[in-house]
Amino acid sequence: MFEAERSVAALENIHAKRAVVGLTIANDLPTPPTKLHRRILDGSQMLTSADNERLTRVGPGTPMGELMRRYWHPIAPAAELDANPLRTKEIRLLGEDLVLFRDRSGRLALLDRFCSHRRVNLATGMVEQDGIRCPYHGWKFGIDGTCIEQPFERTTTGNDAFAAKCGIAGYPVQELAGLVWAYLGPAPAPLLPRWAPLVWDEAVRDISIAELPCNWLQCQENSLDPVHTEWLHTNYPNYMRRITDMGEETRFEGLGPTAGKRHLKIRFYDFEHGMAKARMVEGDTGEEEDWTVGHPVLFPHILVTGCQFAYTMQFRVPIDDTHTNHISLYIFPTAPGTRAPEQKSVSYRYVPLKDELGNWIVDYSFNQDYMAWVEQGEIAQRDQEKLGTSDVGIIRYRRLLLNQLDALERGEEPMNVFRDPALNECVDFPRERIKHRMLTRPIYKPGPGEVTGIAGEYGWSSDTHLIEAALATWDTIPEHARPPRAAEPASPVVEPVANV
Ligand code: FES
Ligand SMILES: [Fe+2]
Repeated sequence: MFEAERSVAALENIHAKRAVVGLTIANDLPTPPTKLHRRILDGSQMLTSADNERLTRVGPGTPMGELMRRYWHPIAPAAELDANPLRTKEIRLLGEDLVLFRDRSGRLALLDRFCSHRRVNLATGMVEQDGIRCPYHGWKFGIDGTCIEQPFERTTTGNDAFAAKCGIAGYPVQELAGLVWAYLGPAPAPLLPRWAPLVWDEAVRDISIAELPCNWLQCQENSLDPVHTEWLHTNYPNYMRRITDMGEETRFEGLGPTAGKRHLKIRFYDFEHGMAKARMVEGDTGEEEDWTVGHPVLFPHILVTGCQFAYTMQFRVPIDDTHTNHISLYIFPTAPGTRAPEQKSVSYRYVPLKDELGNWIVDYSFNQDYMAWVEQGEIAQRDQEKLGTSDVGIIRYRRLLLNQLDALERGEEPMNVFRDPALNECVDFPRERIKHRMLTRPIYKPGPGEVTGIAGEYGWSSDTHLIEAALATWDTIPEHARPPRAAEPASPVVEPVANV
């Protein structure tokens, strides 16, 4: 069977999603065109406008809104909440306006944002030992949203019968890996997934958040789009560098030998917790983990990239239909057998999208992605797309989403809902240890003449010194303790394209 025919079979067998199914699209596809090619060329892989609505709307009662409500979502850095003297933070998640706070007993709570009396924003409230009190007339709410005090009402009636009718919604909330997580779905709440990089002991972490004025799905679809790196992260910034004064300090150059290389093959496969994408570029032998392992996409909205020195978990959390919180959790595991420096709380920062003149900031790889996703429009018009063979992973992920919507409507539990603690101690998944043949550890914040080797976004962590200390632990292990070499590391220097 030709590779491309296997691809068709894999697409048609997507219902068997638990199986590991290889899908290879090679640039030397046999002729005449395969069934898959014919279907791409005749436009039958295009999403209908109705399905586009189904996949993108996330408010209460919508199909995707209901599916998203089966999952825990990161909503804020714990350190940000704790740095605020008010101990509150406004949250908007899946189209709902909420308030996060930590009461003076240390318990986290997530409630409807507005007081049930006359709708004052509770983010302005007074946090007490056992809840939050509205500043206007002093009504007080417990961490589950129960109205536990109405000072003047009690004075006049002498009982709490009215209070029993005045509760507001409260949602489960937990803390893990420096992030606060929320669950907005039906009870009982599933377990908060303990994905491996969230629970490693010996690691330093850092959080970056970009609030993007676009729907979550165009961010997530990028995770199934290997080919874009060749253009968006190579030819485009080279072009911008030539026509502007982007300057020398850019992390783009550190992306390694894959950057700028022509893609020869792309590959997708299913695994228990989602799908992975892999690539082979010019000069690769096919033995590199970029091809054999690739990047895991954890259903429904997580991408994991990086290698043994530094991973990034990217969460595409829907704020509402047209806004997404892009939360990047950087994880820097120390070398085997070494200890991580103490990190009292996980550092965080918010990433600007545009400069003071209103131009996109594009000299960092993440920011290049942000520009592309937002410039697809608030909600990309997928019924007007022309999908090619580079989009086969996106087609496949859309089908997976639609299948999971169908499963939920049949009353089934969707994938990645964890209820057995024994299976949730440390949930690992396929991930690259060696990326782009890089065997030497990267630098986080490069000095003159250095490159970082870590794809990043605008700005630097306030815990840069801890990150550099974690990375330096890799200098202490002998070469033989490192994973076997796949090939000699290639130069990280990327040559600019010849012409604009
Ligand atoms: S508006 Fe909140 S107590 Fe009156
Ligand atoms: Fe990208």
